[in-house]
Amino acid sequence: MKVIRTPAEMHDLRAELRRQPVSVGLVPTMGYLHEGHNSLLRRAREENDVVVMSLFVNPTQFRAGEDLSTYPRDEERDLAIAEGSGVDYVYAPEPDDVYPAGYSTKVEVEGLTEVLCGSETSRGPGHFAGVTTVVAKLLNAVDPDAAYFGQKDAQQATVIRRMAEDLEFRTRIEILPTVRERDGLAMSSRNAYLSPEARERATAIWASLLETESVFAEDGLDAAVDAGRRHLEMAGITPEYFEARYPGTLDPADGEGEEPILVAVAANVDGTRLIDNILIEPSRTTRRNPE
Ligand code: PAF
Repeated sequence: MKVIRTPAEMHDLRAELRRQPVSVGLVPTMGYLHEGHNSLLRRAREENDVVVMSLFVNPTQFRAGEDLSTYPRDEERDLAIAEGSGVDYVYAPEPDDVYPAGYSTKVEVEGLTEVLCGSETSRGPGHFAGVTTVVAKLLNAVDPDAAYFGQKDAQQATVIRRMAEDLEFRTRIEILPTVRERDGLAMSSRNAYLSPEARERATAIWASLLETESVFAEDGLDAAVDAGRRHLEMAGITPEYFEARYPGTLDPADGEGEEPILVAVAANVDGTRLIDNILIEPSRTTRRNPE
């Protein structure tokens, strides 16, 4: 496994790979790898001749006052995990090389980035502009056949798919299922911040989404979202948002048709902001009409 530190080195590597008949898979990460990342790396390994993992804590997707300076980092451990997962190249540039003096370009997806995590009461649309800008730069630098992301960041997945289609990136965007701890908590690098008590309480997030799914089958969408929100509040967690939307457009869902419904939640658990979601498939749930 080789570590690549600069965009120039990455461009040289890509030029060299382009001369060979190989497929390239990219797994973009901000490091502090967990089993969720491993599942992306495994899939990339199965589907490609060459696997590149990027390791870059992207400063532009953090709002002022967020956890950029304390974001968990352990490069030595990440490199060992990447090597064990069969990664060929780790692309780990410095912020000053990604955004050198004079850097002035942003890639912004409108609309989809202004709801849920992108609303002003949450992280704001600037968060997603940071994500799409860095992902566009990674796709340009690595020029992968496929890039792998997790469903836990459902809105990010929708936004990246939109950007890739709008800007005609030839990369296939693959979204893989959320990997969970045994008690259901979605794996996240930020789980490292949780005290044992907060970690225990955070299990209410996935439980509230399961509650939503089961009430939907009985009583419809509005009652289901209310029940999920209540479940969370009873665990002492006030959600930043708890909303039902259609996954492709992120328009509010009414739950009337057969279209899958994304129920997404963000919640602050003792100072740690966690997100999760569930995809409800109306066609697969047996619904009784409420009287
Ligand atoms: O999901 C993440 O870890 C980040 O948002 C990403 C896609 C690596 C961009 O920095």
